[in-house]
Parts: sequence; structure tokens; C-alpha cells
Amino acid sequence: MKKLVAGNWKMHGVAADLERVRAIAEASRNYPSVDVALCVPATLIERAARAVPDFAIGAQDVHFAEKGAHTGCVCTAMLTDAGASLTIVGHSERRDAQRECDADVKAKADAALAAGLSVILCVGESLAVREAGGALATVAAQLDASLPHGPAVASGVPDRLAIAYEPIWAIGTGKVASCDDIAEMHRTVRERLAAAYGGAAERVRILYGGSVKGSNAPEIFATPNVDGALVGGASLTAEDFVPIVAAAAAAAG
Ligand code: PGA
Repeated sequence: MKKLVAGNWKMHGVAADLERVRAIAEASRNYPSVDVALCVPATLIERAARAVPDFAIGAQDVHFAEKGAHTGCVCTAMLTDAGASLTIVGHSERRDAQRECDADVKAKADAALAAGLSVILCVGESLAVREAGGALATVAAQLDASLPHGPAVASGVPDRLAIAYEPIWAIGTGKVASCDDIAEMHRTVRERLAAAYGGAAERVRILYGGSVKGSNAPEIFATPNVDGALVGGASLTAEDFVPIVAAAAAAAG
């Protein structure tokens, strides 16, 4: 499966940083065997999409409603209008700080897929849950409750869906899950996908996220069922991000 390396700029990026978007898009052209995307702040989507028209620019979140009285929120039509081709949903920082539950995440994924966007749906356990031995069950439950099942999924296969497994304790901390733990979790994710989508589950990419860097990317990409990465801090510059893309290309052979 073609690997996907997506950057999540989180709350970073103003007009002056469009140069970085250009640099990343240009360097990524050298790795056509990898899908590369940058999820930038909503305020930068349109300018980024105009700056690099052949490159995938995404959002970091979307509301599930079509429109309406939702102060501060952005709907799918706004994202596609701005030039986004994908969106992250269910990032742990939103599940935590914005108290988004699995049902919200599912509704967002359904809305985004129906609008033609690709979706990166995030799941992951806290350190307390991992230490208590509940990581697999927690992530399986998150998936069962947040995987999209709407008409967009029923009428096609979820090619536009990717799952990002991001252990919360590995995000922005420099700590990375062991390859054995990643392999075990990604196998569980694949099983839950198969339970939901049958044979089509094979076409859903499963990304790992949490302190991915150029230095650890090769072993992560060599792990079974790792079809790419969701990258936060190391996606902010071409210098840090492109080596991860290169590692994905090397893993693809
Ligand atoms: P990180 O963030 O790469 O900075 O750990 C990953 C993420 O939150 O998607």
C-alpha cells in the first residue's frame, strides 16, 4: 500500500511560513511513491492550497454539521471551498481539550467523507491506560465507536480513510512506542477495521504518530501494518520533514 506521510502543524503557521509549505511540497515531488500532505491551521488552508496547487493541503478538524450556529467552527464545505483535500478528526488534543467524544469523531468522519474529503481519524491511549494494560482494548473501543459508517462508506470503500494510532504519551514528548507495541496495536486496528468493513479494511492506511522523526522513521515504517505517519513537531520544516518522507519511500522499496 502506498504510504502516507501527513504533517500536522497544529497551532503553528502564518503567511511567512508559506515558504516552508512550498519547500516541503517541492521536496516531496522527489518521492512520488509516497503520498504527502500538510494539515495547516484553518487560516492558512486557502493560501497554502494556492501556493502549492498540486500538493495535498488539509485541515486539522471539521464540524459535523453542514452549517449553522456553531461559533468558531468550520464545516466541510468551507474546507473544500478553501482548497483542502483532507482533514484530521479526533486528534487527542481535541478529544482532550475540546472534550470530543467518539460519537463526535464518527460524525465528523462521516461528514468529511461524504463531502469528498480524505480523513485521518486519530485514536490512542493515555500513559495511565497503557501502564494498566488497557491500551489495546481502549483503542479497539475508540475505533468501534468512531469509525465512519455513513452513506459515503456504504457506497464506496473507505480508500479515503486513514487511521492514525497516536499514543498520547508519545505526542510531542520525544518518547516513541516500541516497534513491537506499534505492531501489536496496528494489528488490532486492522482487525477492528476488518470487523467494520470486511475485505475493504485492507485498503485503509494505518499511520503511526507520536514523536516521529527522520531518525526513527525507518524502523517505524518497517513495522508490519504501518502504512505511514502523522507527524507533528517534525513537520514544521522541510529539513525535519523530508527525511521522514524519504524513509517512507525507502520502505516502499
Ligand atoms: P508529534 O505530534 O510528532 O509532535 O509528537 C504528533 C501528532 O500529534 O500528530
